[in-house]
Amino acid sequence: MNQFIIIRDYRPGDELFCREIIKEGTMSTVNTAFFTGLTREITLQIMIFASAIMFIFFGFPFSVCLGSIPAVIILMYIFIWLGHTYKALEMTQDVNNIPRVYMSSEYTGFWVAEVYEPYFMTREPHQIKYTVMTERDFRALYPGVSETQHQKKIVGTVAITRSKDSLDKAWLRRMAVNPKYQRKGIASVLTDEAIRFCNEKGYAAIELVTSECHDAARELYLKKGFDLKQMYHKQIFGTIVTIQMYQLILRFRPSDIPVV
Ligand SMILES: CC(C)(COP(=O)(O)OP(=O)(O)OC[C@H]1O[C@@H](n2cnc3c(N)ncnc32)[C@H](O)[C@@H]1OP(=O)(O)O)[C@@H](O)C(=O)NCCC(=O)NCCS
Repeated sequence: MNQFIIIRDYRPGDELFCREIIKEGTMSTVNTAFFTGLTREITLQIMIFASAIMFIFFGFPFSVCLGSIPAVIILMYIFIWLGHTYKALEMTQDVNNIPRVYMSSEYTGFWVAEVYEPYFMTREPHQIKYTVMTERDFRALYPGVSETQHQKKIVGTVAITRSKDSLDKAWLRRMAVNPKYQRKGIASVLTDEAIRFCNEKGYAAIELVTSECHDAARELYLKKGFDLKQMYHKQIFGTIVTIQMYQLILRFRPSDIPVV
């Protein structure tokens, strides 16, 4: 029997699983951010500065001063982890309010990817080939397949909100796929569904923001036809620590609403 991954609208009861996936997606960039941070000039400067302070002002032996190197590395990891945890908590609040934030207007939406698997699976997801499709296509193509024959689990999310700057632009948010189910085409179909929705609602464009830590996501969106709108540095600790951000846009037609 085929194993399916179905893209469908959010339903009450999905929020617990959505929260987990979005949290996991947010935390998945901790290591990338850490290694990016290690290669920054500022990290080396902080290490030298800390060693120099310990040596000159406190008179510690040089070998002890060198201990500031691992200390800076550990502290940096802790800060990055805490920053990501804070961001994940923020997103969790948002996901707690899916019906109000994403389902109360016809111009917003929240979709999930739900895997249909046998109750007793002997193989790991990475060994299995899944068919990913929307619920509409599933019903049309496989009318005989009963959902009750499968165990179901949510493994991906995506959302669309209306841009605050321009009412005819949409924002794509909350894209995340469970790591065990990545590289199976789930994000690709989730993006197609979000694009179809925005086209149907008459939006002029879809925008989104990714960071330098989201290489996979950037690949995905560029493949789907998004273009780079602007690059900017987001300040983390003033101008000392910044992160490179990419704002991407997919235009359907020229916008006829001036930016407010
Ligand atoms: C980005 C993410 C959503 C992709 O999900 P996915 O279901 O694995 O993606 P798909 O299998 O649909 O891949 C579609 C395309 O995206 C690109 N892509 C996906 N994962 C990639 C990776 N690890 N490296 C490079 N490109 C990748 C490829 O172009 C791929 O097409 P291909 O398989 O034909 O080469 C997933 O990696 C994820 O959840 N990451 C953490 C959360 C995140 O980054 N969210 C986006 C925030 S802006």
